[in-house]
Order: sequence, then C-alpha cells, then structure tokens
Amino acid sequence: MSKDTRDDQLGRARVMDNAALNAYYEELAGLETGALWTVANDIEPWEPIPHSAPTIWRSRDLRPKVLAALDLVRPEDAGRRVVYLRNPKRREVSACCGWLFSGIQVMRPGEIASAHSHAASALRFIMEGARAFTVVHGHRITLGARDFVITPNGTWHEHGVLEDGETSMWQDGLDIPLTNALEANFYAVHPDNFQNSNLPWDASPAIWGNPGLLPVKEEWGAFYSPLMKYTWDKTYEGLQNYAAVTDGDPFDGVIMRFVNPATGGHPMATMGAAMQLLRAGEKTKAHRHTGNVIYHVAKGSGHSVIGGVRYDWQEKDIFCVPPWLWHEHSNASEKDDAVLFQFNDFPVMEKLKFYREEAFPENNGHQEITGQA
Ligand SMILES: [Fe+2]
Ligand SMILES: [Fe+2]
Repeated sequence: MSKDTRDDQLGRARVMDNAALNAYYEELAGLETGALWTVANDIEPWEPIPHSAPTIWRSRDLRPKVLAALDLVRPEDAGRRVVYLRNPKRREVSACCGWLFSGIQVMRPGEIASAHSHAASALRFIMEGARAFTVVHGHRITLGARDFVITPNGTWHEHGVLEDGETSMWQDGLDIPLTNALEANFYAVHPDNFQNSNLPWDASPAIWGNPGLLPVKEEWGAFYSPLMKYTWDKTYEGLQNYAAVTDGDPFDGVIMRFVNPATGGHPMATMGAAMQLLRAGEKTKAHRHTGNVIYHVAKGSGHSVIGGVRYDWQEKDIFCVPPWLWHEHSNASEKDDAVLFQFNDFPVMEKLKFYREEAFPENNGHQEITGQA
C-alpha cells in the first residue's frame, strides 16, 4: 500500500524497521502471530477504500449477448440463464460491485426455471417482455416492464414465462458475495422442483400494494415485505406526485425508496432499493457515502460523474457506484424526466451503524471531470 503522509503522526503506526525487529517479526511469524504496528495502517485506513471499479454495462453491448444465450443453454441445465455483471476489480468473488451480485436473466415463452432457495436475498428489475412470472413462497406474481420484485432470503422461488408470453429479460440483484463473505450461504433445490400454489395471481400487490392502506384482517409475521411486486405505474406516479411539490434532494433529485408496507422498513433484510427521478435538465450535486449502489436506467438518458469520470447512460444501461466515491447525476433532456432504479446494501450499512455520507465541498458541489468512460 502506498505511504499516506497522514500516517506520520502520533496515533498511527510509524515504527522503523531494524535488524532486531526483523528478527523478532520472524519469530512471531513462526508462531502464527504478528506485530500489529506492521499492518495497522493498512487494515485501519483513514476512510473506506473501495474494492470495486466504477463500471457501466451498456444495453447496446449486452442485450445481443444475453439473447445469444437463448440458443446456447437451456434453463434446466443452466439452473438460471443469466449473464452476470463482473466488476473488473471483483472477479474473484463474481461481484458486480462490493459484495453485490447482478446479472441479466433471459427466458423464452414456455420456459420455467425450477424452484430453489438460498440464504442470499434476491431482487429483480424487469427490462422487457410479457407474461413472465415468478412464484415466491407460494405467491404467484406476474412481471411487467420496470416492475421491481423481491425474492427474500430463504424463500422458495421459481421463474418462467407463460406459453402465450414473450421472451423476457430482467436484471437480477443478489447479495451472494456478502453471504459468502460471511460464510452463511445455503442453497436448496425444491423437493418437488416446482411450488404448488393456489393463491390468486398477484394477490400480494392486491392486498399490500395500495397507497395509504393496509388490510385490517391480514396477518403477516415474516421478516420481509408482504408486498413482493412494486409496479412501475404506481412507482412512477408516486415520483411525479412528489416531484410536483418538492425541490428534491440536492444529490439525488426526487428519490423514494421501496418499503415493506407493514413496517416502513426495507423490503428485505440485506438489500434496499429506490427509484429516483431527475427532472428535465436537472443536475444534482456530488456527494459520497458508504454502501454499494447499482443503478439501472429505467427511463431517459443522461450521465453520472463518478470519481471524476463521466459515464453517459441510456435506458436499460446499468452502472455501479462503489463506496466513498464522489458521484453526481445529470439528466440529458431539457424536456423529459429521467428515472434511475437502484439497489444497494444500505440495510446492512444501517444495521451495522456504518452508514456515513458527505457533500462535495468545492466548486459549488461539482467534481472536475478528468475522464470519460
Ligand atoms: Fe434464486
Ligand atoms: Fe449517492
């Protein structure tokens, strides 16, 4: 690790090597021990050092490759037909950003991936298609473009596209790398391969997805949200309503997070999600925070500046913002709004009391652009 000039002060490790110390270090190593002062400055950085590179995956590059998988593998062989997004600095853990996994799944009409469960939480953001569905813990749910759907950790789930549907594509988000880092992952195949459910289709959003209303007589004891699908129409309407009466957040524009309607908390234990609207011409100021964020352009076009580098984006592009990097967003259109879906590991950051955020202090909140991706 490169030397940080801040380390040359009282309170940081600044022992110089000498022959006696080096001999001592060797003796310690022989006992599977070490002197903390030789590693302290590395293992206790002054501030978070992101392990991931800011990266953009553009739909125009990716979509043809995802479609190509249709003819190359069958879901019953692949388990899930997914092209995953591999961060160039996180290859060893197959992560998209930090401890978050993401990929794009594609299925044809009539195909179904069998039921399974895992300790990692999962979510979906639907990109295109028609008559796709998921069954989550017996809840049968239809999937429409730009819907956000949850698959909480430990629940049985399976996905498919009905015979009369269209080839469908969605972004998966999971915290597989986090679960593996914590050595807590489990995976199970459903004993019957498919769930047998008689619940009405889309009962979950019908019961729990009505604004300002909770059913009086429904019990819900699970730790995750009883609302498993957040439909685009309602989400977008909510953003527009909010946009009409707020100046918005200086860093995120008009942003609303997805909630468990029974508690007001995050829909799942380990991953959060939000939708943010950038009004015509809107340019946010830069901030940085702990936590990893993976964005999906739900609508419109624009660019984000992440760590000084400009990333231009269009609908269905995906990009990530690693922890503690300055970032700001800009809508390219002077007429139309742009909308960004995001999922993140904020629930973990919050529960562990690690969440921290700060505003970019210079240049009226805007970074100097030093490169373009
Ligand atoms: Fe799964
Ligand atoms: Fe942010």
